Amino acid sequence: MARRGFSKIPCNFLNEVEAIVQKQSESTKAAFKVFEWRSMYAITYMHPVMTMKVLERIKSNIGENCSVLEVGSGTCMLYALLTYMGLRVRPTDIARHETMYYYDELTHRIKVRDSNIDEIDSFEAAVKYKGDYDCLLCSWPFPGMIRNCLPVITCKYVVFIGEVPPHYICESREFFEEILQTYDIVDTIKLPNINWIDKGVCVIYKRKE
Ligand SMILES: C[S@@+](CC[C@H](N)C(=O)[O-])C[C@H]1O[C@@H](n2cnc3c(N)ncnc32)[C@H](O)[C@@H]1O
Repeated sequence: MARRGFSKIPCNFLNEVEAIVQKQSESTKAAFKVFEWRSMYAITYMHPVMTMKVLERIKSNIGENCSVLEVGSGTCMLYALLTYMGLRVRPTDIARHETMYYYDELTHRIKVRDSNIDEIDSFEAAVKYKGDYDCLLCSWPFPGMIRNCLPVITCKYVVFIGEVPPHYICESREFFEEILQTYDIVDTIKLPNINWIDKGVCVIYKRKE
């Protein structure tokens, strides 16, 4: 496929993330600017502060042939980036967002288009696509969104991106306990803390044998 061996970063904000991570300044003015940038980033692109390193580590854990069902995809930026990485991803979300991203194979760029997402609740998606995907992915869910899927899913991997205990913004204490009954944690990737507030982590779970 054309993307193989293609190393250029596919959209500008990944370059911005790298630049800010490398030159974090302690001054109030700089901190405020970064905070503002971070808020805009979450609204415009996605909630996790994503880097190529994190994307590569996700891919190396789940394998390049892994197919992924994403719930709560939002703007679909993560879907676009993982598609760029060569993974087959099915984005779903209960609500249609105005700005949606996708990976354009011809130009190797992330582009905007109208929503063509499967508009479906996370639990309904887990039921509808049961057995069709190797991995369930969710980035910055609202509590309950993944927990509801646990009794239904049979996939080999679950990739959770968001805040983790002792922070329960993204999922409940019960979720983090229940998932360990059927899945083991195989990797935990701390996301860059750009504004001194973020506590984003990517946790990769693998189904117990
Ligand atoms: C905080 S946003 C995160 C969006 C995106 N994953 C990101 O990281 O930027 C949560 C998303 O979950 C969606 N959502 C809320 N309740 C849902 C449900 N029950 N099933 C599926 N998606 C849901 C919202 O529409 C929204 O897009």
